[in-house]
Order: sequence, then structure tokens, then C-alpha cells
Amino acid sequence: MIIKEAAFVGSFVKMEQYPVPDMPEIAMAGRSNVGKSSLINTMLNRKKLAKTSSTPGKTRTINFYKINQTFYLVDLPGYGYAKVSKKERESWGGMIGNYLSRRTSLQEVVLLVDCRHDPSGEDKQMYEWIQQHGFGGVVIATKADKLSRSKLTQQLRRIRNQLGMPKEAVILPVSSLKKEGSEAVWEALADKLKP
Ligand code: GTP
Ligand code: MG
Repeated sequence: MIIKEAAFVGSFVKMEQYPVPDMPEIAMAGRSNVGKSSLINTMLNRKKLAKTSSTPGKTRTINFYKINQTFYLVDLPGYGYAKVSKKERESWGGMIGNYLSRRTSLQEVVLLVDCRHDPSGEDKQMYEWIQQHGFGGVVIATKADKLSRSKLTQQLRRIRNQLGMPKEAVILPVSSLKKEGSEAVWEALADKLKP
């Protein structure tokens, strides 16, 4: 993918604040700290467009990035962050739930999981939701730099099995640290980005 233009559009909570849904949109979902914001920067070839942090819970709003004037990438707040209050968790669920089920221009929800760990209950729930809503369910195994090649292959198989991924679904390893794997992600998303 050639990125000619990548712009932060805004951070929103409420549906009525989102940009007009007139272009295809891809959202990044996954637990806190898995590397969603980092992957967006890697995919866009930008260091700090999306704010990242070693402290989980950095992204708390739905952040929209407009790419090449032709589609949106969306950075979602992560789930599974233990330190948030019950109230915050409920409002998170409402915000993300609303976004995911009502955003008419949404073409794909990419699920990010940490390649070192087995998927959590929430990861499984999210993947099930993605499948049930008719999305292809591209899965990204992040932080691939943390495992040896053979261990990574083994983990990709485990994650695939535990999520119950169908044969035709893809799981792609990426490393934002090493800037590896993002081209394969673009390829997996290419047919969703056609106007
Ligand atoms: P929330 O906004 O809290 O939901 O987190 P996030 O999923 O956006 O994660 P973020 O991109 O902020 O990254 C979290 C931490 O993981 C940061 O310290 C990153 O530097 C680190 N990280 C992200 N991607 C990679 C990677 O590919 N390799 C390694 N080693 N670290 C990574
Ligand atoms: Mg983030």
C-alpha cells in the first residue's frame, strides 16, 4: 500500500461525532497494550500519528485516521484492562458495542492478539462477534519479534485453534518494533478498501 496521505481526523465517543460514513472503514480491536496504535503507525509509516504507551489503557476514545482520502482506519480502545472501574468498563462496552454494530461503513474488524499468549476469554468473544457479524476476521499476532521463528509458528497454530478460526481465515504475524509484516496486512485488507 502506498500511503500518500494519512491524517488524524479526531477522537470521538459518541456516534453523532464520527465522520460521515462515506468511505470504507477498517477497525483495529484487541486487548489493551496488544499493539493496536503501534500497528497503525507501522502500517502508515509514521512514528507518532497514533499515540502509544507502555501503560495499558492509553487509547480511551475511538480515533479515526483518514488515508489517501479514500478510507478510514480506526483505533479502538483496548479491552481487558484490569484497572478501570466497572462504570468505565460498561461505558467502554457501550461505546465499542455501538460503534461495531451500528457503523454502516465498517468493512472489517481486525483482531490483534499478542503472539506470546493464548487468546483470552474476551479475545474469543470478540472473534466470535466479528464472525457472527459477517466480517472475515483477519487476526494479527503482534510483537512477533518476541518469539523465535519456530515458537512463533507453533503459537500461530495454537491461537488459530483456540479462536476456532475457519480454514480460509488468515492469521498474520507482525512486529511494529522491527517494522515487519504490515504489507501482508494491507494485502489481506485490499479487497475491503475498494470504494
Ligand atoms: P491501548 O491503547 O491501551 O489499548 O494499547 P494498544 O493496543 O494501542 O498498544 P500500543 O500500540 O500503545 O503498544 C503497547 C506497548 O507495546 C508499547 O510499549 C509498545 O511499544 C509495545 N509494542 C507494540 N508493538 C510492539 C511490537 O511489535 N514489538 C514489541 N516488542 N513491542 C511492541
Ligand atoms: Mg492504543
